[in-house]
Amino acid sequence: MRTVHTIAELRAQVATWRRAGERVAFVPTMGNLHRGHIHLVERARERAPRTVASVFVNPTQFGPNEDYAGYPRTLEDDARQLAAIGLDVLFAPTVAEMYPRPLDEMTQVAVPELSGVLCGASRPIHFRGVATVVSKLFNMVQPDVALFGEKDWQQLIVIRRLVADLDFPIEIVGVPTVREADGLALSSRNGYLTAEERAIAPVLYATLTACAERVRAGERDYERLADEAKARLSAAGFRPDYFEIRRAHDLRLPADGGADLRILAAAWLGRARLIDNLAV
Ligand code: PAJ
Repeated sequence: MRTVHTIAELRAQVATWRRAGERVAFVPTMGNLHRGHIHLVERARERAPRTVASVFVNPTQFGPNEDYAGYPRTLEDDARQLAAIGLDVLFAPTVAEMYPRPLDEMTQVAVPELSGVLCGASRPIHFRGVATVVSKLFNMVQPDVALFGEKDWQQLIVIRRLVADLDFPIEIVGVPTVREADGLALSSRNGYLTAEERAIAPVLYATLTACAERVRAGERDYERLADEAKARLSAAGFRPDYFEIRRAHDLRLPADGGADLRILAAAWLGRARLIDNLAV
């Protein structure tokens, strides 16, 4: 595996593959890799002979009071894990390489309809930052296929819309969430949990599962189901941000009953904001 830090080196490497007619798969990350990220790269390896992953803690997707400064940066360990599973190129740019101009003077990419709800309601600039950095990364890597985790369902939907609206010739693949044995979705932010909070954390997945079962059984009062779920989370020690039953493919409120539903939730536990979601 080769680690490159500049766009020029990355482009030169990808160009040699392109000349050889080889397909390229891409997995963007913010590093601090866990089994969920590694699973994504393994799926990428099945889809193309060449794979690129990026590690970049993207400042434009963090709000002013969020955990950008404290976000775990473990590049050496990340590189070791990626080399072990046969990644071709790790792209790890600096902030200056990605954003040479002051951020408020930069062109940005907004996906309006999908960015203001759910996570976007409490993180107003988040998805603009994600859409901007992913657009830039797509233009740098120019992959044939890019893989995203279903754990960040709203992000996956935003990226699908971005690729459709801006005509990126890239296939977007969603990969099911990798979980701990007790159901907790793997996340870099799980490291913020104390031992006591870690014991409570699986209640988020359990609450989603219970809600999905009730919808499957025919319950249609989604507001009541969500209120009960939030009450259960609060009782367990969470501070719920949202718990919503939405149409999976466009995140709209379900108009026509029970088809194509996704249950999405975010809740604070100590200093970690945990998110998870489940298909009905
Ligand atoms: P990050 O949180 O590092 O996640 C990178 C990718 O790994 C995302 O597609 C995410 O959905 C996926 N992922 C995280 N946890 C997972 C799990 N438990 N199971 C399966 N996939 C999982 O998401 C980002 O970074 C950034 O927003 C990024 C897209 C890189 C743009 O900066």
